Amino acid sequence: MPDKSKPVRTVDLKVMKGAGEKIVALTAYDALFAALVDESGVDVILVGDSVNTVLCGEATTLSATLDQMIYHGRIVRKGVRRALLTIDMPYLSYQVSIEDAKRNCGRVLKETGAEAVKVEGGRSVAPTVNALVEIGIPVMGHVGFTPQSVHAMGGHRVQGRAVGAKERIVEDAKALEQAGAFSVVLELMPSDVAQSVTEAIDIPTIGIGSGPSCDGQVLVLHDMLGLNDRFSAKFLKRYADLAGSVRSAVKAYEEDVRAGRYPDVSHAYE
Ligand code: KIV
Repeated sequence: MPDKSKPVRTVDLKVMKGAGEKIVALTAYDALFAALVDESGVDVILVGDSVNTVLCGEATTLSATLDQMIYHGRIVRKGVRRALLTIDMPYLSYQVSIEDAKRNCGRVLKETGAEAVKVEGGRSVAPTVNALVEIGIPVMGHVGFTPQSVHAMGGHRVQGRAVGAKERIVEDAKALEQAGAFSVVLELMPSDVAQSVTEAIDIPTIGIGSGPSCDGQVLVLHDMLGLNDRFSAKFLKRYADLAGSVRSAVKAYEEDVRAGRYPDVSHAYE
């Protein structure tokens, strides 16, 4: 088990992989939930660009902006003391040029206080990852289903099933490792593909919808809490029904107010 009294560093994740200890990651988008998640002892907190769909109601992550990610990164930072804080780089903030990527990722680290950034893509983004690592920016990779390419991929589809696709994903992950990424998210792929990737590289794999062989797991907090009950997927395990709790609490409040039961004397000042 990692030392719960010390902040988690990028190097600790590799040590955990070596020791066969699972890495626990979750998303957070604000200080309140970030503090709850951090206090629970997770290793990595990711400010995912999924904030754009989960909290902001957009259909995809594509319209997330750099300012939006910096805003959420800053408020999440206030709640995180121990976990490794990683911020998703939004679409077009790192794909256009290496110069752009350095400036934007650097801005994210400077303005949020996070320890790392995450970028999507494999071999195509490896030179950028290398350039970022060379100026001291820790990078988490992300291969398999990459939400910023949802249209190119024809929707939310499991990746790695086509002939040669498994080998391509393995090559993508190896390229990220060689470029200096400290870990890589594996999203939506068959368990055997994720296992091959995990065995092929020394940096940890963090899976979402990619089976049990990954070195760690990540889920979107609002999905696993059952707060965002508009989203469901085979891979998702709901650990609570917060949407149900919110609906019944609001209903009870409504009924109390309409019936004149709230506030009663115990909630009123003299
Ligand atoms: O945006 C996000 O929340 C993510 C995780 C699901 C890996 O990229």
